[in-house]
Amino acid sequence: MVSLPKDLTLRLPRFKGFAPGAALSLQQPLTLLIGRNGTGKTNALEAFKLLAHLCRGGRLPEVTDVGGYGGYLEVRGGLPGCVPQDGGRRMALGLDLANHDGALRYDVAIDVDERGARIATEELIVHEGATQSVVFHLKAGQGPGAGFVVIPPDTGFPVSDDRTYLGRADGGGEKTKAADELREAVRWLVDFRVFDFHPEAMRQFADHRLHQMAPNGFNVSAAAYALRATNPEGFRQVEQFIATIPDADACKLGFVEAPNGQVMLELEEATGRKYDARVLSDGTLRAIAVAVAMETTNPGSVVTIEEIERGLHPARARALVKHILEAGSRRDARVLATTHSPAVLDALTVEQYGSIVVARRGAGGHELVPFWSLPGAEYLAEKGRLGAAETQEGLTGAAPPSRPAVDLDALLGMGEP
Ligand SMILES: Nc1ncnc2c1ncn2[C@@H]1O[C@H](COP(=O)(O)OP(=O)(O)OP(=O)(O)O)[C@@H](O)[C@H]1O
Ligand SMILES: [Mg+2]
Repeated sequence: MVSLPKDLTLRLPRFKGFAPGAALSLQQPLTLLIGRNGTGKTNALEAFKLLAHLCRGGRLPEVTDVGGYGGYLEVRGGLPGCVPQDGGRRMALGLDLANHDGALRYDVAIDVDERGARIATEELIVHEGATQSVVFHLKAGQGPGAGFVVIPPDTGFPVSDDRTYLGRADGGGEKTKAADELREAVRWLVDFRVFDFHPEAMRQFADHRLHQMAPNGFNVSAAAYALRATNPEGFRQVEQFIATIPDADACKLGFVEAPNGQVMLELEEATGRKYDARVLSDGTLRAIAVAVAMETTNPGSVVTIEEIERGLHPARARALVKHILEAGSRRDARVLATTHSPAVLDALTVEQYGSIVVARRGAGGHELVPFWSLPGAEYLAEKGRLGAAETQEGLTGAAPPSRPAVDLDALLGMGEP
């Protein structure tokens, strides 16, 4: 079984609106991105998605804008939209992977102009103890079609500027030890998908063979159906969790099976009444999708979910957080999620505050600040109930009379600007 590196850190030296030093570390079982609208939460997920595409050898022209352009990978604004709007034409991303026995540092820069997008530079460095070695370093030559300068000299594979050298190593046959290690280390990225579940897409029959959960969850019925067949214990876990969600007595999950191999989820209440996906509540459908995604993710990967609590009643937030943490640990998966929910924050114990990362606008662009690095974090932790503090600020917009010297707005990135 593949194991996730102890630390995975995404660096965003030049990506959309991020400050050059912005980075997001996934060390915790759960990383919760919070912050005001437009502070870069979704941008960070897109950066991960793009990096994953590049690491697995995806080509640059396959990256398109969202909304049906037929691209293999959709990012808002396409590649041109990823370039910081500061007059430059270069975007750059980096990834650090660290384990007890060493670290890998990977960097890639892409130039985007009217001729299209090209890999501009790429580098992989291995740190083992005090030694640092360059596995490869590529730099585009001067002028169009001048090719790449590769260090150490290329081992005979053609280098193209529309996909990464790293991705080619993944698909090709480079047999160096470092390349093998690298292939192993980036395996967690191969599965990287950002789930953004839309109940309206889930209310349909799905071909039972489409069992890998799609980003919008349209095939949740097929994914759940396959889970029941291949991992009955995982299916039971989903069922147990779902039984706590709707305001009804014990529920069982079943399926309507059409003769053509199409299946649709249905929930059976203790009363014997059955409700299929067409009529289930939005919150229930999303909760099912989250739970099924957790059970069907490959061990050793990162599950990424937008607005994890959307549609869920605040009283269920604790159950959701508990389930995600429990399933993540069972599946050896880490979870990266965005949330706007005070109830989710309130569901965390002080020991879990390390999960919180606040996205906020700083002088040099968007920053991603771990909770414990915020000034005054101890004060809030002592107070407990983070969500309550945030809601109070957000609802009143004005400082309560007892407002402490700590700026809660800045702490949680919420309230009036
Ligand atoms: N190329 C770019 N250069 C500079 N800034 C950009 C660029 N593209 C997007 N942005 C900034 O990023 C913002 C969008 O950020 P994002 O979608 O990540 O917000 P969010 O934190 O997910 O918000 P919400 O909570 O509303 O979903 C834009 O409004 C803009 O300010
Ligand atoms: Mg967003």
